[in-house]
Amino acid sequence: MMCGDERIGIGLIGAGWMGKHHAFNILKNQHARLVAVSDLEDETAREFVDSAGISAQVYTDYQEMLARPDVDAVVIASPNKAHAEHAIAAAQAGKHIYLEKPMATTLEDCRRIAHAVEQAGVKCSIGYHRRLNPIVQYAKQLQVEGRLGELILAESDYVHYIPGDWSIWEWLGKESIAGSLVHAGAGHNVDLLRYFCGEVVEVSCFKDIRMPRKCQVETEDIAIINLRFANGTLGRVVMFVGPIMPFNFTIKLFGTRGTVDNNRI
Ligand SMILES: NC(=O)c1ccc[n+]([C@@H]2O[C@H](COP(=O)([O-])OP(=O)(O)OC[C@H]3O[C@@H](n4cnc5c(N)ncnc54)[C@H](O)[C@@H]3O)[C@@H](O)[C@H]2O)c1
Repeated sequence: MMCGDERIGIGLIGAGWMGKHHAFNILKNQHARLVAVSDLEDETAREFVDSAGISAQVYTDYQEMLARPDVDAVVIASPNKAHAEHAIAAAQAGKHIYLEKPMATTLEDCRRIAHAVEQAGVKCSIGYHRRLNPIVQYAKQLQVEGRLGELILAESDYVHYIPGDWSIWEWLGKESIAGSLVHAGAGHNVDLLRYFCGEVVEVSCFKDIRMPRKCQVETEDIAIINLRFANGTLGRVVMFVGPIMPFNFTIKLFGTRGTVDNNRI
C-alpha cells in the first residue's frame, strides 16, 4: 500500500550494526522510505532515528510495526536465532522480506520460513549480497560465456580478524543465538560456491576452537569444509575467525578453459 506516496514503505527489525547499514541504504534510495524501526531495546532504535534525523516511528514490539499498512516490506537484521520468528510473522502479515543471513539456524526453521513465504505469496530475499559484488558478477559472466570451461575445483575463504576482547563475542560465539560461526561467516562462501557450481551432494568438515577471546565460542572458529557438487565440481571453504591480519575473502574457480583467482572481494 502506497498511501499517496509512490515509494515502498520499509520497516526495519533489529537496529544493530547491520540494521543501521541497511537503514542508511534505504534512506539513500529514492524508491523507498523507512517508515518504522523496531528493536527490543527502545534506546537503540530511538538513538538511531534521532541521530539519522528521520521521522520513522520506533517500536519495541515488531508485531505492532507489522500491523502498519504503510509497511510494504521489512528488512530483518535481528540475531540469527530470531530470523524464523520474524520472517514467518512478516510473511503472515503480507510483507515482502529482506532477511539477513543466515536464513535460520536449523533446516526445520528454513523450511518453515519457505512455507510461510509461499503461503503468503510474498517475496523473500536472503542477505547473501556477495553474489552482487561486481567481481563476482564479472566471474559469473565469464562462466556463462563459457570462458572458464567446465569447473573442476572452486574455493572460497573467509579469514576474518575480530579482536578477542570485542563485546560481539558475548553473542557471536553462542550457539543459542548465532547458530555457529560457519552460519555467521562461511555461509557467504558456501552460497558463492553454490552460485557457480549448483547443488552440493556431499560434504565433510574439520573444525576446531583455537583463538583465545574474552567469551569463548561454543561451536568453532576454524573450519575446513569439503564439498562435492552434483555436476562433479569439488569445492573447499576455509573459515578462520581470529588470525592477526586484514579481512580476507577469496574466490577461486579452476575450469578446463580458464581460472578466476581473486582475493579482493
Ligand atoms: N550480510 C552480511 O554481510 C552481514 C554482516 C553482519 C551481520 N549480518 C547479520 O545481521 C544480523 C544482525 O547482526 P548485527 O551484527 O547487526 O547484530 P547486532 O547485535 O548489532 O544487532 C542486532 C539487533 O537486533 C535487536 N534485537 C534482538 N532481538 C530482537 C527482537 N526480538 N526484535 C527486534 N530487535 C531485536 C538487538 O537489540 C540489536 O539491536 C545477523 O543475522 C547477522 O548474521 C550480516
